[in-house]
Amino acid sequence: MATEITAGFVEVLGREALMELDGLNTLEALEDWRVSYLGRRGRLTTILRAIGSLPPEQRRTVGALGNQTKTLLEERLAIRLQALKESGVSRLAMEEQIDVTLPGRAISAGRLHPTTQIVREICDAFVAMGFQIVEGPEVEWDKYNFEMLNIPRGHPARDKFSSIWIDYRDQGGEYPMLLRTHTSPMQARVMERMRPPVRVIVPGKCYRYEATDATHEWHFYQVEGLAVDDGITFADLKGTLYEFARRVFGPERRVRFRCDYFPFVEPGVDMAIDCFACQGNGCRICKESGWIEIMGAGMVHPRVLEGVGYDSSKYTGFAFGLGPERIAMLKYGIDDIRLFYSNDLRFLRQF
Ligand code: DAH
Repeated sequence: MATEITAGFVEVLGREALMELDGLNTLEALEDWRVSYLGRRGRLTTILRAIGSLPPEQRRTVGALGNQTKTLLEERLAIRLQALKESGVSRLAMEEQIDVTLPGRAISAGRLHPTTQIVREICDAFVAMGFQIVEGPEVEWDKYNFEMLNIPRGHPARDKFSSIWIDYRDQGGEYPMLLRTHTSPMQARVMERMRPPVRVIVPGKCYRYEATDATHEWHFYQVEGLAVDDGITFADLKGTLYEFARRVFGPERRVRFRCDYFPFVEPGVDMAIDCFACQGNGCRICKESGWIEIMGAGMVHPRVLEGVGYDSSKYTGFAFGLGPERIAMLKYGIDDIRLFYSNDLRFLRQF
């Protein structure tokens, strides 16, 4: 083999290699080319390795030419690689017939669900008044959902909550777990974990075993609020909720509080605002009454405070709970709560 190696041979090999290189158009082909000439057993590499065994007078000239050829091939390969990478777009256009002058397809941006929007708006109003947002579990113990809210087993108020129970019995044969029927259990959970002053707002999903109609869903959101401290009075409740109503429904709103019953508050109230559609004159939205009930509220029952180890002779507080979908329905004139869960884009895109 060594005897065949001449300067002319190396030259021809170099020229052949470069011609071949010019016709290659893919990265794979370039790599094959590199291996066949410059790889460990490539044709040029083999020659360079054999140079040592040439007669000394040939060794110098052939050696020099061999090394030059190697450098040349490497440089040309690098240039071709670069060119191929840069022509990527136009190559794609050629091969796949893409018209790169066409304007791109706009990516359709999503948006926040109307429930998310109203929940945020409600929370923002309370955060501005110093409340802190917390969230709790949707699968809840009977203990928090009922017992610690002064609704013991057998209490008639339990009938109001058509509950979805988890199929699991404790040692006594009772079902201790359910999908929470309201966000109120977080009152006890929060107070267990912190000492007054407490000011929290709890948005979250709730579930009830209910037949659905235009105003009832078996799953829905609630926003719960709780403030407990030394010296909190009913005036604080009124002031806070009045401010909330004005922020969400407009500065002219008037509010009305009437007695209502919830086992975990005493006294309990339902809060209404004057109808923003007819300014209280009576219309379809307020069912001709001029008032719209928007939430339940009250002063936290001493038993609830004692249940979490608070001294009820020292601390007092107020709590409230409202349904954001209902608020959104009122605010935007939506007449069916099921629309919130129907995933109908014609509905959702309006918000
Ligand atoms: N948890 C009640 C319900 O779902 C609503 C409620 C009423 C919450 C009065 C409160 C409250 O915090 O004080 O019907």
